[in-house]
Amino acid sequence: MTQPPHEDLGRFAATSPQPKPGILDIVAYKPGKASAEGVADPVKLSANENILGCSEKARAAFGEAAFQLNLYPDGRANALRAAIADRYRIEPERIVMGTGTDEIFQIVNQTFLENGDNIVQGEYGFGAYAIGARACGGEVRYAPEPGYRIDVGELMAQVDERTRVVFIANPANPTGTFITEGEVRRLAAELPPSVVLVLDGAYAEFCTDPRYTDGLDLARDAGNVIVTHTFSKLHGLAALRVGWAYCPAPIAAAMDRIRLPFNVSIPAQHAAIAALADEDFQRRSIAHVERWRPWLTQQLGGLGLEVVPSGANFVLVKLPTAPGKTAPEAEAFLASRGLLVRGVGNYGLPDHVRLTIGLEEHNRAMIEALGEFLGR
Ligand SMILES: Cc1ncc(COP(=O)(O)O)c(C=O)c1O
Repeated sequence: MTQPPHEDLGRFAATSPQPKPGILDIVAYKPGKASAEGVADPVKLSANENILGCSEKARAAFGEAAFQLNLYPDGRANALRAAIADRYRIEPERIVMGTGTDEIFQIVNQTFLENGDNIVQGEYGFGAYAIGARACGGEVRYAPEPGYRIDVGELMAQVDERTRVVFIANPANPTGTFITEGEVRRLAAELPPSVVLVLDGAYAEFCTDPRYTDGLDLARDAGNVIVTHTFSKLHGLAALRVGWAYCPAPIAAAMDRIRLPFNVSIPAQHAAIAALADEDFQRRSIAHVERWRPWLTQQLGGLGLEVVPSGANFVLVKLPTAPGKTAPEAEAFLASRGLLVRGVGNYGLPDHVRLTIGLEEHNRAMIEALGEFLGR
């Protein structure tokens, strides 16, 4: 049986325990669709997962860990932190591990926000930042993103004396756009040193433009910059929930105090170590995106659709507003053809859909189906 939406679970009676003010105003995170009615085996292109799967070596390491299910994991994930530190040439003691980077964002908010403080993010910013901030009694301030891009001046215009954290995903979700190293450095330089800057690099490895940086170099010597990475995208381990943050040492020490003590499981730690070592799988994943991202962009453009230039493993596409051709109708039509994409109305983009770059046959089927939908 499917879970009813939260709204159906019942209302709080006046005499029952009441959630803190603001909790019931939070709109829960909406994951990408994983099924379509009447379609046996749809292709999920709605959650920006790795379409190539994951490293075989990671799968084997996960399997071996099945013999340790009775044990608690190493709460500090020391072997995994050492492997990350080695690979990225960073200090292991400055790494905080999370149950996915989603948990890292929660921990950042819990560490820094008091009632009445605020976070600043782009107007199309990734939904998880705001949920965590609101749960801590924080306000969320949205900066306009002209041309679907983070704009440093607009972000800075939202920062005030109650701002504790600025969150940006670079490349961003759901837009796919990125800001350059110069822009990231300008933002870091203009922010007051008391404000934390979180650079979310969930899609960093797919952004091969030479002007791009994930910010690790900048973070090395900054007292207020946190860079996050995940094993969910490049490494294809979304199911295992492993993410990490590179933080200034005192911030890492503070965050480590409040994270769940055993937040990365043994199978997840082992698989992540193996995934990190499998550079061949990583290269193939990046090459696949580099091969099909321009193809999809060009083909979608050929259908007369506006495509936002992407530095990630997905593209954002604008649909017409004419009845019969709208984004929700396109989403439903594609689902009926077994292609699950993501409507992004909840991000303030009601005319757009977001498509994860698929295998060759998925990408070709997508263009064919959209052509049919649009009558082209
Ligand atoms: C921008 C961005 N950051 C973070 C995440 C979450 O990653 P994780 O699986 O590590 O929680 C996502 C997932 O879609 C994302 O799009």
